[in-house]
This record gives sequence, structure tokens and C-alpha cells, in this order.
Amino acid sequence: MPNTQTNILITGGAGFIGHAITRALSEHPTNTITLVDNFARGRVDADLQEILDRPNVQFIQGDVTDAAFFATLPKNFEYIYHLAAVIGVRNVMEKPDKVLYVNAISTLYLFEYAKQLPNLKRILFSSTSEIYAGTLKHFGITVPTPETEHLTLDDITSPRTTYMLSKMYGESICFNYGRLYNIPFTVVRYHNVYGPRMGYLHVLPEMFLKIRDKSAESENAIIDVASPSHTRAFCYIDDAVKSTILVTEHTATQGEIINIGNSEQEISIRDLVKTVASVMGKTITLNELPDTPGSPARRSPDTSKIKALTGFVPSIGLEEGITRMYAWYKDKLDSRHE
Ligand SMILES: NC(=O)c1ccc[n+]([C@@H]2O[C@H](COP(=O)([O-])OP(=O)(O)OC[C@H]3O[C@@H](n4cnc5c(N)ncnc54)[C@H](O)[C@@H]3O)[C@@H](O)[C@H]2O)c1
Repeated sequence: MPNTQTNILITGGAGFIGHAITRALSEHPTNTITLVDNFARGRVDADLQEILDRPNVQFIQGDVTDAAFFATLPKNFEYIYHLAAVIGVRNVMEKPDKVLYVNAISTLYLFEYAKQLPNLKRILFSSTSEIYAGTLKHFGITVPTPETEHLTLDDITSPRTTYMLSKMYGESICFNYGRLYNIPFTVVRYHNVYGPRMGYLHVLPEMFLKIRDKSAESENAIIDVASPSHTRAFCYIDDAVKSTILVTEHTATQGEIINIGNSEQEISIRDLVKTVASVMGKTITLNELPDTPGSPARRSPDTSKIKALTGFVPSIGLEEGITRMYAWYKDKLDSRHE
């Protein structure tokens, strides 16, 4: 009998985006999904357990910086979503060695392993909008920013640079292993993806906590807002998941770099705080602070390439996304973790 199953490997599958992609892919019984994670950040909560209980999902606890671990994996995967990484400002500042080590070695070992996969159709490499930060700061590039912008490293001595450097290195692995060993790949650069289960060390969960705590002290809470007129574009997780799966499976995106984000939803930090407070049903007064030094005034992806290649346009507006996200976080703010 012909094998009608599609075998998919997801590294970092217990994390925010990995879990959400698995949830979507596992809705199709013809997909067989293997998740790998070492629980450096991801965790087995009710949401992950619900996915792990599905008959077409299996979980392997393992470390993608261990070459011997890759040797134990089956060789029948057709699609690989490589999402395992050490991320987040706190990690980057406190553990820049881990950022460099995990993000670089895992991608090298993955591509070494991929050389042995006869059925491989695509590796999806998860890169970041951070990669544009140096060019944005020093060369005043176009915003919304297209994928074709040249990349600039800012301060090579700074721990902050390690994350963007590790992702540039990963992108280079994709192009060079891809070319030499005929390994099909797509690079996505995520721009501010948000939604349920993203942890607590990101701007939106931090705002939930701040507004809740200040509102408990006073009916009209005063909320400090730095860089109030700076703008950012946020992309709801469901749009990020749909577009990630689409570009991984689409023939036109093989060997391409694709921005994933939602430039239609660019918003000032001032209006973002107001929207969050309104979703939470709280009355607040903003205390506007000066701009944070080094913070770019505007950040937004040019998403015309994904639209041209696949027809994809995001569909979830910011208020709706924050409402869905808050519905998940509301009862969990006290049990916060990384
Ligand atoms: N969330 C965003 O807005 C965003 C923006 C830009 C780029 N990205 C990229 O997307 C990817 C996924 O991001 P996320 O937000 O889901 O992060 P996340 O931290 O929620 O998920 C990463 C997962 O990788 C796992 N992991 C870390 N080291 C590992 C190792 N050595 N072996 C096995 N597993 C390991 C962690 O335990 C975690 O579950 C990352 O590569 C990140 O750089 C995300």
C-alpha cells in the first residue's frame, strides 16, 4: 500500500510558535508530526498535553545541539520546521553564549542531518525582524522593510548582537548547505508574533500584568509609557501559523526569504497601551516618558513578497488578537513563568 502520510518534524515544538503550528498541522489526519524539545523554555501544560494526546503527534525529548541525538531520529521526514532557539531580551543579555551556541549549532547539525533525508521537501528556518535592526539604526532604511535590504551588524562587542548574528548565521547555513547539498529550504523572518502561550517576558503579557497590578492599586491607574509615539506592527499567532505552513508547502517559496508579519496593524506604543487597557476593561491615564535611546521610531515588515508569491494576507486585527490573547492569559497571570 502506498504511504499516504506526510511526516513532519518540528524542533522547539513545545514553544509558542512550534505548539501553534503543531496544533494546526495535526488537524489533518494525513500528517504525522514528531515534536522535539528539551524544555529549555517550552513546558508540558494543558495546551501542549492536548496536542500530545492526538494520535498523529509524537513527542521526543531531546537536545538539538547534540549530534548524537540527530543520529537517533528517523530519516523519513518531508517537512522540518526548525523553531528551537534561545530567544528573548533577558536570555540575550544574560546568556549570550547560549544564544550563539544553541542557535548556531542546532542549525548546523540539522542541515548535516538533512543531507541524509531522501524524501525532504523543505526545511523552514525561523529568523527574525531583529536582523534589520543594525541597518535600521545606521542607514535609515525603508519602513515597511523589504527582505532585500542589506544587513548590518551593529556593535559586535555587545551581547545584544548575538541573537541577530546567530540568525544571520542560520540564514547563511540555509543558502550555502541548500546550494551545495540540494537541501530545499525557506527562511521566514518573524515580526512581533503575539498570542496565547507566548510566555510572560514579552511586551503584551508585561502590559497585562502592569495594567492589572496598577489597576488593583487605583481605579484610574497611571501607566508609564516610554517611546509613546514609536510604532510597531504586531502579527497574531493564527496568521503567523497559516503563513508559515503556506510558505513551507508552496513551491514558489523554495530558497526564498519571506517576511512574516502584519504591516496593516502598525500601531504606536501609546495606542497599543490604550487598546490593551480597553480590552481588559480598565480605565488608565498614560504617563508618557522620553524615547528609549536606540529604539527605532518605526518598525514594520513589507509583506508584499508573501502576498505576491502565495496570495497570503493576514486577517486578524490587533484588537481582536489582543482580546483572544487576554482571554487565555486572564486567569494565568499569577502563575507566570519565563
Ligand atoms: N515569537 C516571535 O515573535 C518571534 C520573532 C522572531 C523570531 N522568532 C523565532 O521563531 C522561533 C520560535 O520562537 P518562539 O517564540 O516559539 O520561541 P519559544 O522560546 O517559545 O520556543 C523555542 C523552543 O525551543 C526549545 N529549545 C531551546 N533550546 C533547545 C534545544 N537545545 N533543544 C531542543 N529544544 C530547544 C525551547 O524549550 C522552546 O520550547 C525561534 O527560532 C525564534 O527565534 C520568533
